[in-house]
Amino acid sequence: MNQTTTAHALGLSTEIRQQAAQALSALLADWHILYQNLHALHWTVRGPHFFVLHERYEAIYTRLAAEIDELAERILTLGHMPPHTLSDYLKLARLPELPTLTDERETAEAAYAQLGQLIGLVRAALEQVDTGTEDQLVGYLQSLEKDAWLLAAWLGR
Ligand SMILES: [Fe+2]
Repeated sequence: MNQTTTAHALGLSTEIRQQAAQALSALLADWHILYQNLHALHWTVRGPHFFVLHERYEAIYTRLAAEIDELAERILTLGHMPPHTLSDYLKLARLPELPTLTDERETAEAAYAQLGQLIGLVRAALEQVDTGTEDQLVGYLQSLEKDAWLLAAWLGR
């Protein structure tokens, strides 16, 4: 039996699996960019609220790191190879790398803006994926929304 006649255990069409894997691959790249941007802010932030922001950025990027692994493994579950090099991520990501930011408010504004951008990208991806992937992404979406609320509150919005 060749690839086209072998049923996939997930019971999803080749097209759906391909489309979901593609959407997830772009998100995997965005997740890496946000992870690194927040790690950078964790290091570079300065000001009277250093401890609060330093720890908040760490809490977010630590969760993103776990989600990165889950996103890649979902792509594998769908029968595709996840992008796995930094150059792949830079090519695929929609989120930009941040410049060096030190002012505490500027770091929080930048983190808030990037969370908002990723939330929008997850919502768009939800239109392109199967139910199992959708369920996984909705959990991430809720966490990102809560992160955005925490930062909005700190920013006084
Ligand atoms: Fe640290």
